[in-house]
Amino acid sequence: MPVTVDPRDDLALVVVDSPPVNATSRAVRAGLIEAADRIDANPLIRAAVLICRGQTFIAGGDVREFDAEPVEPHLPDVVARIEAAETPWLAAIHGSALGGGLELALGCRWRVATADARLGLPEVTLGLIPGAGGTVRLPRLVPLDLATRMAGLGEPISAQEAHANGLVDALIEGDLEAGALRFLRCALDAPPQRTIDRPIADTGANDFWQSQQSTAAKRHRGQAAPGLALEALRAAVERSAGDALSREREVHLRLRKSPESRALRHVFFAERAAMKPPVEAAPGDLDSAGVVGGGTMGAGIAAAFLDAGIPVTLMERDQASLDRGLAGVARIYAGSVKRGRMSEADRDARLAQLTGALDASSLAGADVVVEAVFEDLEVKREVFRRLDAVCKPGALLATNTSYIDPNAIAAATSRPDAVIGLHFFSPANVMKLLEVVRTDAASARSLATAWAVARRLGKTPVLSGVCDGFIGNRILKVFRREAERLLLSGTHPGDVDHAMRAFGMPMGSFEMQDLAGLDIAAAMRAAARARGETVFAPISDRLVALGRLGQKAGGGWYDYDDGDRTPRPSDTVAEIIADESAKAGGAREDLDAGAIQHRIFRPMVEEGKRILSEGIAETPSAIDLVEVLGFGFPRWRGGLMYWAAANGGQSPNST
Ligand code: NAI
Repeated sequence: MPVTVDPRDDLALVVVDSPPVNATSRAVRAGLIEAADRIDANPLIRAAVLICRGQTFIAGGDVREFDAEPVEPHLPDVVARIEAAETPWLAAIHGSALGGGLELALGCRWRVATADARLGLPEVTLGLIPGAGGTVRLPRLVPLDLATRMAGLGEPISAQEAHANGLVDALIEGDLEAGALRFLRCALDAPPQRTIDRPIADTGANDFWQSQQSTAAKRHRGQAAPGLALEALRAAVERSAGDALSREREVHLRLRKSPESRALRHVFFAERAAMKPPVEAAPGDLDSAGVVGGGTMGAGIAAAFLDAGIPVTLMERDQASLDRGLAGVARIYAGSVKRGRMSEADRDARLAQLTGALDASSLAGADVVVEAVFEDLEVKREVFRRLDAVCKPGALLATNTSYIDPNAIAAATSRPDAVIGLHFFSPANVMKLLEVVRTDAASARSLATAWAVARRLGKTPVLSGVCDGFIGNRILKVFRREAERLLLSGTHPGDVDHAMRAFGMPMGSFEMQDLAGLDIAAAMRAAARARGETVFAPISDRLVALGRLGQKAGGGWYDYDDGDRTPRPSDTVAEIIADESAKAGGAREDLDAGAIQHRIFRPMVEEGKRILSEGIAETPSAIDLVEVLGFGFPRWRGGLMYWAAANGGQSPNST
């Protein structure tokens, strides 16, 4: 039974036990209605405590049910039943009270929570709005700007913030059940009003809704749900509760069928499935890590381990480089402190777990070592030879290489089964994607450990076979090539960038290159050409030759005024493009945003299909995750392959 009633003298516990996250499945909803009926029918029970077993309070709806027509009893009716109960209810929250879970708690007269609980209405992140009164009840308890942050932007809040703002009546230390019963005994004689009957004190200043809408539009560009959630909140403020509730439900049900929500649910399930290791094997320990090379990536990777509470030894080739590497890690944390995201004490605690080293023997005890030295096979092989000589048996030896065949690196060791690619994305302490590159000899244990690393570091792992650039950079190469090719037939860099943004990418290809610096890609092209490959980049090559390396050089694909990052069309670039187009001799075309998107994304999809047929990626979802989490492909379009399948080969909508 997922819901049981357990009497405690004149109180009753309503216990939800429905692993893994006590979602509001049909059985749980029906169980709650039955519990409310039983409790109301028993005059000896004076109040009820809604509490959950397992790791969390009701953490949300059962997302799988969203694909089907809703089944009775509907969640809004369950919330209303609890709220209308003659015997008042209290919600005792631990873990997460999200979505439908928070909506149920809002239907209770009181809410208490453990200090580490989180509360939120994240429906917009699945392309939905709350559907069981969340937008109508929340602003009756908390200030309007907090309600809009929670329901409009989908941001969860801590128990402390919930307590400070009236959403939670008390924080419980120690045993939640005992604390909740204690709280209830004191509060019982004067139950507060039902949430739905409370007035909304705060109606928002004049331009409140407009400014909220523009924030949501910026943060969730291209998506409908956040704006609709704000409209639902506004209806709660301006209309009767009954009217607002029925509008909210109607929009929620409509959105369940929207392409945006379906795409977001696809990514949600893909992310969950990705966390499951591809093999059944026990992972190695993860009590300490080594990082070799403290440049851009090494410093970020070290920070990612430190953030997960794993001590790191950072090894460099000489003292000056080591000092730079350690300073690089410190700079990452200084940035977090400056932005108010981390306390100075936390920064100090993390840096205290970081040790510098110049000798590989310092890595002898590490459970996992990630190499992030120069992208040069010989340099990497030498590093792995040394690691092989000193590292303890069972340690995972990983390379962060972008393009080099990790099999050739593994072959430098006497234990190729322990060598694997762990391809982080920049900034490595922030980006969620981790490509796990499977070497030919990689053992099941090495793969299991790679998955354990991803889990500990809060990353989403995607398995990739070995090929040039693995999944992500191989598709990126097509993206860049096609963007540059368009310029030869008369499309301007600004047109391409506009079309990419209109599609929902955070930035266009050319703006992005100017921001990152054209030198990185140029070095990659040089390396690829040195390997005998042909790389199409006639215009990029000329810009680099002129020293137009991007924003840092005052110009790249665009010109920049001093101290201003606004891209301005460049006459020099226009001349180079005209010259190269004349050489190419192709016809000039006038392409709108939709056609530009088609020209760029279709070849990427074709590359994705080749990646699948070669077995480099195991599923289309793997490619979707790489594109969404590593390359800014709009999440609400579901990822490259999902988008292609959903659009059936049609030119995409440009808005
Ligand atoms: P970087 O040039 O910033 O840093 C490389 C560091 O390795 C330098 O600090 C250098 O002193 C050190 N190093 C060189 N030889 C060494 C040795 N024998 N022992 C110890 N340290 C040594 O390079 P970056 O950008 O951090 O790249 C490192 C690796 O990560 C490369 O393989 C690159 O392809 C890969 N990568 C880079 C990404 C990026 O966005 N920059 C993204 C993903 C992977």
